[in-house]
Amino acid sequence: MAEFDPNGRTVSRASPSLALVKYWGKADTAENLPATPSIGITLDGLYSTTEVTCCGSEDAVSVDGSPAPVNRYRSFFDRLRSAVGRQVYFQVRSSNNFPTAAGLASSSSGFAALSLACSAAAGVSLTKRELSALARFGSASAARAVYGGFVSLDAGAEYAEPVFPEDHWPELRIIVVAVASGEKAVSSRKAMELSRTTSPYYERWVTDSVSLYDEALAALRMRDMERLGHVMGLSYMRMFAAMLSCDPPVHYWLPDSTRLIHLCGRMRSEGIGAWETMDAGPQVKIACLASEEPVIRKRLAAEDSSWTVTVTRAGPGACLLEDV
Ligand code: PMV
Repeated sequence: MAEFDPNGRTVSRASPSLALVKYWGKADTAENLPATPSIGITLDGLYSTTEVTCCGSEDAVSVDGSPAPVNRYRSFFDRLRSAVGRQVYFQVRSSNNFPTAAGLASSSSGFAALSLACSAAAGVSLTKRELSALARFGSASAARAVYGGFVSLDAGAEYAEPVFPEDHWPELRIIVVAVASGEKAVSSRKAMELSRTTSPYYERWVTDSVSLYDEALAALRMRDMERLGHVMGLSYMRMFAAMLSCDPPVHYWLPDSTRLIHLCGRMRSEGIGAWETMDAGPQVKIACLASEEPVIRKRLAAEDSSWTVTVTRAGPGACLLEDV
């Protein structure tokens, strides 16, 4: 066990895990176990930085300078205390270098960074697997963000597993297009529960997602952009089909999201490999090969110069800042 220093300050950093095939729905709500298998890519250059001290008699969290609702973190901190075996309280300051809670997977990087910083601040050095299982309580996608490269989280799994390292496919790029800022109106947690409890398509989505996962894994192994792009499209569209069929329906898309989906479709019909995906928010992420990135960026700028475009690729997993 590492030394516990009550006056110590620990800083960690983690990048978001963008799902190429999606986790959507919980097999066990209390344990926060995913109902569907997913594969994520940990995005280089976007990150949450989290600073933790262990002091006081209650937990407090601020994100990007504003106090965060402690209810959202309570069960996570309780798990954390039992994982580290110490009755300590955490004072947390976290910040993101990209928009928070806007469909850019900030909860994945946030809880991965939080798990690492808090456990280290409490004087405990957890294995990656233990960290992944802990991060899962905050947000299941955070279980993936503990690792770098390409990472899978199986249906019902307690922790994620790395499947390919970050240098597996050096030509692969992810272009993140932020069409709007501001937090989403419905949390992914709530929208998933609505999907599970009210969508007539939910069970089909869950059974069907297994073959999408297998196909994405094969495409990644072969580094086959067209094959991966095709299955990415099926995964996010079917996830949204489950959301749109909820009662009440959940919809995260904005007109600009739809414009981007159409633009990617037009590019593909012209032979440019621009393969989009979306999460619980209006932003669009485009997978492509490095050779096609310039032409795609040019088309994005011509379509709407107000969009914020960030180009990224597979990056490293969560780390303590002294390790950087
Ligand atoms: O981990 P959560 O609760 O933030 O949910 C993530 C859900 C998606 O981003 C839509 C899909 C995924 O696998 O990351």
